[in-house]
Amino acid sequence: MAGGGAVAATGSKQDYPGRLTPFVSMACLVAATGGLIFGYDIGISGGVTSMDPFLSRFFPSVYRKQQADSSSNSNQYCKFDSQVLTMFTSSLYLAALVSSVCAASVTRMAGRKWSMFVGGVTFLAGCALNGAAQNVAMLILGRVLLGVGVGFANQSVPVYLSEMAPARMRGMLNNGFQLMITLGILAANLINYGTDKIAGGWGWRLSLALAAVPAGIITVGSFFLPDTPNSLLERGKADEAREMLRRVRGTEDVEEEYRDLSAASEASRAVKSPWRDILRRQYRPQLAMAVFIPLLQQLTGINVIMFYAPVLFKTLGFGGSASLMSAVITGVVNLAATLVSVFTVDRAGRRALFLQGGAQMFASLVAVGALIGAKLGWSGVAEIPAGYAAAVVAVMCVYVAGFAWSWGPLGWLVPSEVMPLEVRPAGQSITVAVNMLMTFAVAQAFLPMLCRLKFVLFFFFAAWVVVMTLFVALFVPETKGVPIEDMGNVWKAHWYWSRFVTDDGAQHGD
Ligand code: BGC
Repeated sequence: MAGGGAVAATGSKQDYPGRLTPFVSMACLVAATGGLIFGYDIGISGGVTSMDPFLSRFFPSVYRKQQADSSSNSNQYCKFDSQVLTMFTSSLYLAALVSSVCAASVTRMAGRKWSMFVGGVTFLAGCALNGAAQNVAMLILGRVLLGVGVGFANQSVPVYLSEMAPARMRGMLNNGFQLMITLGILAANLINYGTDKIAGGWGWRLSLALAAVPAGIITVGSFFLPDTPNSLLERGKADEAREMLRRVRGTEDVEEEYRDLSAASEASRAVKSPWRDILRRQYRPQLAMAVFIPLLQQLTGINVIMFYAPVLFKTLGFGGSASLMSAVITGVVNLAATLVSVFTVDRAGRRALFLQGGAQMFASLVAVGALIGAKLGWSGVAEIPAGYAAAVVAVMCVYVAGFAWSWGPLGWLVPSEVMPLEVRPAGQSITVAVNMLMTFAVAQAFLPMLCRLKFVLFFFFAAWVVVMTLFVALFVPETKGVPIEDMGNVWKAHWYWSRFVTDDGAQHGD
């Protein structure tokens, strides 16, 4: 394709000296804990909302409806359709949307680590409220606080990781964030499976409160984390920045990289209002990535599985425990397939993963829709044999794997690595905000859409996968191995985006 892989070869220059030091590995591990909490929050609510004691206590009308509808001669597609119930899941994403915008200023002015710290503290407050919840208000307020934490963490962690990593390993380290997200989802699924069995019906409290473990790690950890050289420079601490660069790269030979960072930071200081600047014509390619990549990531429909797998499997006629077990299975596949991306992204490149993952998701979504349609049909009234339901779960796993080595990690990596320093925090906030808005919209719309569109819903997402795969083929350049402060060249070599970037200076002025 015209926008294709050759760009990396023409657009990149030699990598700077340095290696992956234990110091950086540790720092990245702590930072990536932010992903663990995000994942935990994604995975926990679906399981909890499928638990009877939780439903009957907080959402008695949904509980009664579900009990009444549980016979196979009623419409299976609609049995969980409740706006209050989805609000419990999706309130988190609205809060994250708003807070990611505030996080941009903290990240820029105080440094990346303080955004992570604020994130950690609000997470802890959210877990406490949720674990002790006596009414729906406490539940939702707790989710809102968790959302504020997600906004801060997702705004700062990917930027932190991209800046700490040597260019040739940036993809791998950044995908560590996504790996933590999937680990968080799986942990949540496993914990739900276990707590569901607690006699006395209070297992859901444990599920919700256990998010405090990763929240505690990032709160304490971020306190001790070093700031990135880029951020130190941006805040005028030149000597500290050079020293930090030596430490993170594990070599004295950092002058070339330091010079490039300084130049980028000069440009950054000249920018007084990153929010207005990112709207300028010269940043159009980056803005397009910050908006379209998260938007399309959510239109894969992945969170239908991540949030509602247990509910969806109950819809297919599985029992409560089998549904939670199926969610564990998709969770394992999600984690394992993300590992594939960690080890291939800096070799195969971003575009190859995007395109292959897109093809795989398309085929499996069509298959899931066809399988469900063939059995439940339009009426949604049927008994699904166990073997058949297992086949549906298997095809869903193929879909999850396709997502997990493509749009999952790349949906965070690509927007964070293409931003020049001066608009990086603003750009990352846009990515987080669009991601959260779309996550909210999908979470809120899925149950009513399943109830109305039925199996066609899966074809709807398949159509979006076609759109996003074309978008990548035409508009997303290869960024593998390109030093982060040298990304401007990638656009210059691109068949479409080159018209927005005239020469070197054009990245920084009109
Ligand atoms: C997405 C989440 C999704 C997760 C699944 C992330 O990249 O942003 O919305 O739930 O991947 O692993």
